Amino acid sequence: MAINEMMSDSVLIIDFGSQVTQLIARRVRESGVYCEVQPFNKVTGESLKVFAPRAIIMSGGPASVLDIDTPRAAEEVFALGVPVLGICYGQQTMVEQLGGEVQTSDHREFGRAMVNVTEACALFDGIWRLGTEEEVWMSHGDRVVRLPDGFRVVGTSEGAPYAAIADEDRRFYAVQFHPEVVHTPNGAALLRNFTHGVAGCRGDWTMAAFREQEIAKVREKVGNGRVICGLSGGVDSSVVAVLLHEAIGDQLTCVFVDTGMMRLGEADDVVGLFRDHYNISLVHRDAGDMFLGKLEGIKDPEQKRKIIGGTFIDVFEEEARNVGGADFLAQGTLYPDVIESVSFRGGPSVTIKSHHNVGGLPERMNLELVEPLRELFKDEVRKLGRELGLPESFVGRHPFPGPGLAIRMPGDITREKLDILRKADAIYLQEIRNAGLYDKIWQAFAVLLPVQTVGVMGDSRTYDSVCALRAVSSTDGMTADFFHYDMEFLGRAANRIINEVRGINRVVYDITSKPPGTIEWE
Ligand code: XMP
Repeated sequence: MAINEMMSDSVLIIDFGSQVTQLIARRVRESGVYCEVQPFNKVTGESLKVFAPRAIIMSGGPASVLDIDTPRAAEEVFALGVPVLGICYGQQTMVEQLGGEVQTSDHREFGRAMVNVTEACALFDGIWRLGTEEEVWMSHGDRVVRLPDGFRVVGTSEGAPYAAIADEDRRFYAVQFHPEVVHTPNGAALLRNFTHGVAGCRGDWTMAAFREQEIAKVREKVGNGRVICGLSGGVDSSVVAVLLHEAIGDQLTCVFVDTGMMRLGEADDVVGLFRDHYNISLVHRDAGDMFLGKLEGIKDPEQKRKIIGGTFIDVFEEEARNVGGADFLAQGTLYPDVIESVSFRGGPSVTIKSHHNVGGLPERMNLELVEPLRELFKDEVRKLGRELGLPESFVGRHPFPGPGLAIRMPGDITREKLDILRKADAIYLQEIRNAGLYDKIWQAFAVLLPVQTVGVMGDSRTYDSVCALRAVSSTDGMTADFFHYDMEFLGRAANRIINEVRGINRVVYDITSKPPGTIEWE
């Protein structure tokens, strides 16, 4: 069956570059409707015909419609006869393209705002009543000042007299606020009113459907080609491997690259799982010398990431030759990796760090990428993993970054330091499991600091390293809070580490949230 036939209710999300566009997709999918995010400049009359969406949502974005050459939606978007919802910049461009007017406002709104519901509207059905004030989240400078023909205003706020507008005949709706973020308490229900109520989507899309759809896509892309897939031990690459195996069977070879910077027991766990449970062809490559050789003396975090990304590709290319020539490299890249590494237009962007699955890869790579999880958040990957029957012990694993312990060791990387860190990390995780906390924490790990402090053990002076413990709660890794342990737990873990790991004589706990910190230290 063709992908389009499987997905009878598809919603298209046109991306104008907002940091939160993917949350729209998430909300829509959570309500059981398949959707795709496409950059505004890739949406054409032709692509719309092929995708045949049942509804279109236009995202926010950083540009101003008042500037020259800023993004616009293809005119065909408004001629398809399907419902369209514009959000923030999406509202402004809709208004401007349909003959209304937008102006820069002195009254900017950022953060929480209240919307007065001035008229009934299909978006508000069953949620917002006429005459009430409703909490929303705004983030805008420009605002609509004159509506195109056919529109009426249905909600106003202090900074946006046209906070919500509707043209019910054409089924065009637009809001200045962001319904996709959790700070708009009824936002998900508003989006649902649009997709289910206005557009009539049935909401029968599930992870099972995503699995089928991705399998079909992979088959189409790969054809008779050979794929190699880097297994890192994390849930993402494990899910990719199992999904690909289902799609293309023995055209797939998995490569577990032991970088020498893995956690204690990692290699055995991963190789064991795949050898014992799956009939997937698996190469276990011990590349510790190669990685550590290239990283000798390197202290800068971005340089570490780039070297590791490059070395991974060297290894994959070698392994590709060993299997008689591969055409594709499969990776477990997730959406947060994509937005933190590149801008949506691929131009110069605010790169927070070069996640090795994305920005860290050198351009010279000869293998084409297959990234079936590119649109998913971590919790969605876990759902997919369960759908594919992966053991819970794997599905529930904390994320582990491709660059491994290298980015948990500020300063240069040596085998000795890696051994110390591995031991401390294993003890810390063991204590977390013993306390029944593992599944409550998004990610926990030890960091070895390039700082030595004075201590006393028995009757002797010590001058050893400091170990920092990190644990965060999060739903998608994009934002995170430090985990609130009780002090007794921390005392116990610290005590064991200091007593059992030679080379560490002091332990500290990291109480930084993201933002302003990131989860990893580098
Ligand atoms: P940060 O440190 O950016 O991390 O807050 C967010 C999440 O991404 C993981 N991470 C990576 N994962 N390759 C990966 O596969 C990478 O290069 C990478 N860097 C960070 C990190 O562990 C956290 O879960």
